[in-house]
Amino acid sequence: MNDPLLAEARAAAQFASAPYSNFPVGAAVEGDDGDVYRGCNVESASYGLTLCAERVAIFSAIASGARPLRLAVTCVSGDVAQPTSLTPCGPCRQVMLDQMGPDAVVMIDQVGRFTVGELLPMGFRLPS
Ligand code: THU
Repeated sequence: MNDPLLAEARAAAQFASAPYSNFPVGAAVEGDDGDVYRGCNVESASYGLTLCAERVAIFSAIASGARPLRLAVTCVSGDVAQPTSLTPCGPCRQVMLDQMGPDAVVMIDQVGRFTVGELLPMGFRLPS
């Protein structure tokens, strides 16, 4: 995959603050305003406060008034022989469903292109 949004995610990974896991992650969201919002994982000495790259990128778009449309993610230290070491965690998948809906596209570096619904089948949604 050679999408410019993936290049943005790779650039964002350079800013990851991951001194405890040494597992840098980068993400990039395309907003409905045409802008790109980057995210990286940010860890805390109080480990549970860690934020994932995907959520940082999605929340950054929202904080700027944009609706997140597409997401790209890259896990620098992941292993292609174990593709699940490269795919987003469960809580981030729920936030993708919440904010982007089931049909939004997620590009996962070295793995492929998926919809949010493929990544989180039967995901929870409040009744409308
Ligand atoms: N991480 C992400 O940024 N995104 C994910 O989807 C999975 C995990 C981060 C959290 C933590 O800083 C490090 O990767 C190891 O779990």
